[in-house]
Amino acid sequence: MNDKIADQATRPHSMEQTVGSSAAITEVYRIVDRIAPSGCTVLITGESGTGKELVAQAVHSSSPRASMPFVAVNCGAIPEALLESELFGHIRGAFTGAHATTSGRLAAAKGGTLLLDELGELPHALQVKLLRVLQTQEYSPVGDSRTHRADVRIVAATNIDLDAAVASGKFREDLYYRLNVIQIVLPPLRERRGDIAPLVKHFAAISAARLGRPPIAFSPAAISAMEEWSWPGNVRELENTVERAVILCGSDMVEPQDLPTRFSGLSSRERGGAAELPDSGIDLRATVEEFENNLIRQALERTGWNKNRAARLLGLNRTTLVEMLKRKRFSSRAGAA
Ligand SMILES: Nc1ncnc2c1ncn2[C@@H]1O[C@H](COP(=O)(O)OP(=O)(O)O)[C@@H](O)[C@H]1O
Ligand SMILES: [Mg+2]
Repeated sequence: MNDKIADQATRPHSMEQTVGSSAAITEVYRIVDRIAPSGCTVLITGESGTGKELVAQAVHSSSPRASMPFVAVNCGAIPEALLESELFGHIRGAFTGAHATTSGRLAAAKGGTLLLDELGELPHALQVKLLRVLQTQEYSPVGDSRTHRADVRIVAATNIDLDAAVASGKFREDLYYRLNVIQIVLPPLRERRGDIAPLVKHFAAISAARLGRPPIAFSPAAISAMEEWSWPGNVRELENTVERAVILCGSDMVEPQDLPTRFSGLSSRERGGAAELPDSGIDLRATVEEFENNLIRQALERTGWNKNRAARLLGLNRTTLVEMLKRKRFSSRAGAA
């Protein structure tokens, strides 16, 4: 990609495959470059699909642990009853079905890096055990009273607001402070729109090569439509959108009509700026209300009625949006009452 020289100076080798030169992503390169060698615990936050795992791998591969394993555990995907044994291992007979002693992922990552993905989903009992690992580098497999030594760098990733989880008692404050030594924030894609065009180019080249097709370009109109989009699924959504367009496109140029219909909405400028007062006059309140309802409905539909994300798209607090919906008596089936 066409990175600036200043950018190359700080971009670690391990992030060569990471695309983007927005201020936000350049800051990420800079932090990874600084903290990778130290072995310190790192907390990576950002919405789903913003590249948290990619950054975790970069932290690992620019660290002295690079030649040792990188092991990722998705704390949200493994049932609570199994997660403890998955992480710490168990001894034979520790529970029904424990026919053999098994070492966990912590042992598998020995000498390397352990990524705890979706950390916000870690159950309370395991939060205590993780805190022990961080404080004393010690743990015990399930059913084993002996102490094992953990030799791992812990990198944690989460897409939930841990401050809020701490406030609501869902997440231990002491663990949060212990993990939050260095935080890397991956901003949503809609806040670094300058990265969209280079990312499209990057994924188009990968998709075309994978499909054994000649290189495929995206027209300026297609790129504009993509730059206007809110990308609730972030880089992962963009990656999938590009692959789909490359597959469906019949020529060597992707046009807006090759993109899913959600991209064909008018630009915010076109929607907002075009209103003209007719000679006969208007009912201002009703017109504004209708305009507002229309945008709220689009935000809700675009986010699958996720009020948090819809509120963010509209620049509102969640509570404000919820109050507006109540007042307007919005529902997912009927129109606004
Ligand atoms: N800046 C980037 N450059 C290139 N690929 C990226 C970038 N950010 C994310 N990706 C890709 O997007 C997808 C989603 O990223 P991932 O790290 O899994 O996100 P998260 O863990 O935050 O959900 C992956 O295929 C990843 O390689
Ligand atoms: Mg992930």
